[in-house]
Amino acid sequence: MKDYKRILVTAALPYANGPVHIGHLAGCYIPADIYVRYQRAQKQDIKFVGGSDEHGVPITIRAMKEGVSPQQIVDKYHAIIKDSFEKMGISFDIYSRTTNPVHHKTAADFFKKLYDDGLFEEKETEQFYDEKTNTFLADRYITGTCPVCGNPNAYGDQCEKCGSSLSPEQLINPRSTLSDAVPVKKLTKHWYFPLQNYEPWLKQWVLEDHKEWKNNVYGQCKSWLDNGLQSRAMTRDSNWGVKVPLPGTEGKVLYVWFDAPIGYISATKELTKQWADYWCKEDTKLVHFIGKDNIVFHCIIFPAMLKAHGGFVLPDNVPANEFLNIEGEKVSTSRNWAVWVHEYLKDFPGCEDVLRYVLCANAPETKDNDFTWKDFQDRNNSELVSIFGNFVNRSLVLMHKLCGGKVPPFHNAIIDGDDKQLMEDIKAAKIKVTQSIEEYRFREALFEIIDLSRKGNQYLQKKEPWKKAGAENGQQQIDNCIHLSLQLTANLAILINPFLPVTARKILHMLKVVEKMLDWENAGSFKLLSVGYTLRAPELLFRKIEDSEIAAQVEKLRANAIAGSNTQNVEKKSAGGNVVQPMENMLKQEIVYDDFAKLDLKTGKILSAEKVEKADKLLKLEIDLGFEKRIIVSGIALHFKPEEIIGKQVVVVANLAPRKMRGIESNGMILMAEDKNGKLHFINTEEAIEPGAGVS
Ligand code: MF3
Ligand code: ZN
Repeated sequence: MKDYKRILVTAALPYANGPVHIGHLAGCYIPADIYVRYQRAQKQDIKFVGGSDEHGVPITIRAMKEGVSPQQIVDKYHAIIKDSFEKMGISFDIYSRTTNPVHHKTAADFFKKLYDDGLFEEKETEQFYDEKTNTFLADRYITGTCPVCGNPNAYGDQCEKCGSSLSPEQLINPRSTLSDAVPVKKLTKHWYFPLQNYEPWLKQWVLEDHKEWKNNVYGQCKSWLDNGLQSRAMTRDSNWGVKVPLPGTEGKVLYVWFDAPIGYISATKELTKQWADYWCKEDTKLVHFIGKDNIVFHCIIFPAMLKAHGGFVLPDNVPANEFLNIEGEKVSTSRNWAVWVHEYLKDFPGCEDVLRYVLCANAPETKDNDFTWKDFQDRNNSELVSIFGNFVNRSLVLMHKLCGGKVPPFHNAIIDGDDKQLMEDIKAAKIKVTQSIEEYRFREALFEIIDLSRKGNQYLQKKEPWKKAGAENGQQQIDNCIHLSLQLTANLAILINPFLPVTARKILHMLKVVEKMLDWENAGSFKLLSVGYTLRAPELLFRKIEDSEIAAQVEKLRANAIAGSNTQNVEKKSAGGNVVQPMENMLKQEIVYDDFAKLDLKTGKILSAEKVEKADKLLKLEIDLGFEKRIIVSGIALHFKPEEIIGKQVVVVANLAPRKMRGIESNGMILMAEDKNGKLHFINTEEAIEPGAGVS
């Protein structure tokens, strides 16, 4: 390992086109924060930078669908995301955003330097264009029939049914997913970065010089490099993004993956005048925390850009995590299959550390992992409450009961094997935890700390100080046991601090010691609390989580997932979270005919439609069912303007129990088809059918 003088930690910039979910936290923000808090406790010179990624196609699409400007979209989600991070204790030194002027200038200058050095290839190519919405279409926004397997919904870059990788030209009957228009070809000029020129250097730098990188990271890089690199367009046709800093390039912006990682540099500039120390001095250790879908950008493309530019340090490590599934299924924002951080914070106030704990204990460090609410409850109740919390609580309660509320003395003369063993365990734990964190194995470190508190419980159990009053040397034995338990409690505060910062501070408060005690060098010491010192009354560190709370969450997840299938439809690729895809190929559990027969499906006709106040996704519909007219509230407002759906024929679930949405009673549900891009369609029949006809 090389010697370094300062550390710069980055965490992937999440797209500001939606809130963050727990997959994001588990993927990179919690590990990054643990690492940073640990390094701060080690008194390292360290900066932790992050921010919102506010450019790119998903944001413009979302804006188009919601009928607002991209700026409005990013303003809204930047605020929500920033707030979620703050409340979860993700301790960025700066949380910036890529719409900031500093960033636009930094990214444009970076591009200009590569341009001036003659490092781009300029190519004019024909690209698909949607004349209805006046947009060039990225491959993902073109669908058509797969020439290989006939799947009618293949994407411009890939058919998800047969797995063939495609180019938009190969699609039969290509259509724009934005407007359904038939895309036309249009000439456009772009600047390409010839990645292949950096291939020999990358092979040396990644595959030879960084064999210590995590297996999942190294493996992905190797397969990219083995497959050979190609030129990549670093500009796009769009009006949203960092303008290409060349004359005559109106309507062209930098590719979002060109500008976003430069956002790390811009954020550091905003943070400190000394930014260049962190970015340009060789003795900086740069660490990128990301999720697995970002590996190629952080290990290959961005380093090649930095190398081409010159003068910047390269990452020392890129400890990417895999994905976190929820209740056995992949996270899908289009299906709303996710646990949103801002909602968790509302539902479990004061339980921020619990989520940090569970997401670290179960982090997808080496493979995809599953989050279940049951596991969340179990880990809270049987690890945090029953082991860690219990030990700290018992130590303090016993101290108040048996030692008059003061730290008792330690009598060296009667020290025994158990005392010595406990002291050894504390020292060994410090070494183990330190090493695990340094090597980015946070689960292992956390496990070690819980195990140490378990040993504390066993020690108390064995010593039984509550039975010692009146015995020979009784008070001395009590003193030693309580003294050591309290020193262990103080040690636990230091060790747990990077993981559970609120909990560590609660312990500090009870022990009446200052924050400074949390310095890492203090771990392993048995002199953290002075003899005779009066401590505060104990308060519980964690509360039990009840079955009913968990049941409510599972219920909420399922209920929202169904409703959500008609609501949130912009795909959000996630920083450290999951690549989210609709799940159209998956079937629900088999049902019997009787289940189906319970549904009363009828044809209906939309008589009127209006927006629901303060609910950007909902439309209030009046539906003619032939035998009656009724009001149905439907989550389709992002897809259709009220006026364009009047008179449409729909299938209605007519016997669905009424449900209040935003104060309006909804009497049933309309059925729509959702395509792979999350866009909704009416299920059209050629002929008009009388309202009220049964569907079966
Ligand atoms: N916005 C991207 C995502 O969510 C991550 C960008 S990371 C950066 O996947 F390096 F580009 F900033
Ligand atoms: Zn196919």
